[in-house]
Amino acid sequence: MYLLIPAAGSGRRMGSAWQSQGKASRNKLLLTLLGKSLLAWTLLAADASSQICWIGIIGQPSDWDDFRAIVTQLSLTKPVHFIQGGSTRQESVYSGLQALPPQAEHVLIHDGARCLATPDLFDRCAQAVLTCPGLIAAVPIKDTIKVVGDAGLIESTPNRSQLWAAQTPQGFSVPLLKKCHQEGRQNGWEVTDDAALFERCSLPVQIVEGEETNLKVTTPVDLAIAEFILRQRSTLTSNPSAQTQPS
Ligand code: CTP
Ligand code: MG
Repeated sequence: MYLLIPAAGSGRRMGSAWQSQGKASRNKLLLTLLGKSLLAWTLLAADASSQICWIGIIGQPSDWDDFRAIVTQLSLTKPVHFIQGGSTRQESVYSGLQALPPQAEHVLIHDGARCLATPDLFDRCAQAVLTCPGLIAAVPIKDTIKVVGDAGLIESTPNRSQLWAAQTPQGFSVPLLKKCHQEGRQNGWEVTDDAALFERCSLPVQIVEGEETNLKVTTPVDLAIAEFILRQRSTLTSNPSAQTQPS
């Protein structure tokens, strides 16, 4: 399975996390959690997946030196390729698709910022995408969602039982996703995930049960939550009985 990791953002909403460390803002994927960058955590999970055989990191040239240093330090078992991204996530994924080797039939796309995804989630998505044209990891939402109009007044309350929060990995047939991206460029569609392009082209997208902990690290609060989850995982790894002991 081929994996593309969009990592070419600027992390605008994370700016204050750098400032609190006295540093100028940079790509949030270079921020560290328990001594490893966000990108490193994402790469380690992908490398531990039994299904992934090829990893493409989509980044900006200003980050190449740091990205290369991260990859070198991790001694990954899978080949890693560096692909230049664009000014939006949609453009970055488009570039990634053009850089896939011709034999790639299916692809998983996973945001570098979702650094808590587990190898098991990659494996389940990689297996499922062999049996359908498109899929996304997603979880049922817990909040009640309101549709709010320009005047700040609620317009409606969608039925929560039908609402799912989209995550990545998202998996697709490569020729179909390339076609959808092409359509999107021709028609000026602006979307925030690849499934949305599939939907606009009336192609089916299946749901794979995601993980509640698979959050997208977007703001400084997410960074703190991610650190808590990673600490808990490392405690469970070093002491598996910790989970079953009464507190
Ligand atoms: N991304 C990308 N190319 C872009 C913009 C975003 O590859 N031009 C990637 C990000 O690096 C991230 C993922 O898409 O892994 C999801 O985007 P987001 O969480 O919005 O990250 P940023 O765009 O970096 O953050 P912000 O929107 O706060 O600036
Ligand atoms: Mg963004």
